[in-house]
Amino acid sequence: AEGKKASFYEINREAAAFFYRNFTKKANPAYDYMIKRGLEPATLKKFGIGYADEEWDSLLNYFLDKGVKPELLLELGLVSESKGKFYDKFRDRVMFPIINTRGKVIGFGGRTLHDGTPKYLNSPESPVFSKKNNLYGLNLTRQDINKENYAILVEGYMDVISLYQHGIRNVSASLGTALTENQAAMLKRYTDHIVLSYDADSAGQAAAARGLDILHKTGCKVKVLHVTDGKDPDEFIKKNGKEKFLKLVNEAMPFAEYKIHLLKQRLDIGTTEGSVTFLQEAAHILKDVSPVEADIYIKKIAKETKISEGAIRLEIYGNNNSEPIRTP
Ligand code: GTP
Ligand code: MN
Ligand code: MN
Ligand code: MN
Ligand code: MN
Repeated sequence: AEGKKASFYEINREAAAFFYRNFTKKANPAYDYMIKRGLEPATLKKFGIGYADEEWDSLLNYFLDKGVKPELLLELGLVSESKGKFYDKFRDRVMFPIINTRGKVIGFGGRTLHDGTPKYLNSPESPVFSKKNNLYGLNLTRQDINKENYAILVEGYMDVISLYQHGIRNVSASLGTALTENQAAMLKRYTDHIVLSYDADSAGQAAAARGLDILHKTGCKVKVLHVTDGKDPDEFIKKNGKEKFLKLVNEAMPFAEYKIHLLKQRLDIGTTEGSVTFLQEAAHILKDVSPVEADIYIKKIAKETKISEGAIRLEIYGNNNSEPIRTP
């Protein structure tokens, strides 16, 4: 089984090299597309960006000539099968190889060059590719994450590449799925400080709220960044540059503040019922953070709701001191 796994890695590596040659050796629409989006040749090379051409059998024939069995390509999701015939799965797409922290090509993301759907086609789960156990870009960025002692977590391949090109290299992305506990644990090997920088749309914000809880549960100190211009970090940094993005990083909302912000959106603290519910739920959140941090929010909430700090402390800690009750 290990031998088979090694050959899967080797096939993926050769496929990545094949797409890369298509992208770099002759004129092709994928290269033009990426240049038009502001990416530099050095960045494209760093991430091994490639092109899957329009033919239905380019990659298939390349491997058949080498004596590779199409069944293996099928298992990797490089080809599909219909009525006993194999054909290339990725066609006319920009190819993003997904490389694990051991340097192995485990899968691909392919972006359409047109308006067609799906916008991104990703490799299916395979013997060497598990989406929930890997993060995009981490092979290139983990040292920077470790050095900066925080990671910026984004939604998309393009966000990773774009931030990287602008000199923000402590970045990674989950692979088009909701963040998992395993991914959080992976990041935690390099840092326990995470800044979530998801898309500004409601889907992105909902994903951020879920990611926040998962990272918090894993024991990470997590903050939420809001891009104030453009749909996502890629668009923001293209328009505003590195320093403005770092300013957003600085202003990112810490876990408790963000959770309370979400509560306020959901509840009307102008009504008695709303403010009671708000306070009960805020107390739950503040139980989980350090007394020093909680103290800051207790004072803020007391001001906003006109409920006494003592009552809020009672709700959080069961007494009205600033410290949780400690049982001997
Ligand atoms: P651009 O539009 O090229 O800037 O990409 P983006 O990363 O901004 O795309 P988007 O915000 O729509 O999606 C974020 C991530 O979700 C992508 O990088 C993909 O990993 C994933 N994703 C987006 N669209 C699809 C899709 O149609 N199918 C699948 N499976 N994943 C997708
Ligand atoms: Mn720390
Ligand atoms: Mn989106
Ligand atoms: Mn984008
Ligand atoms: Mn996006």
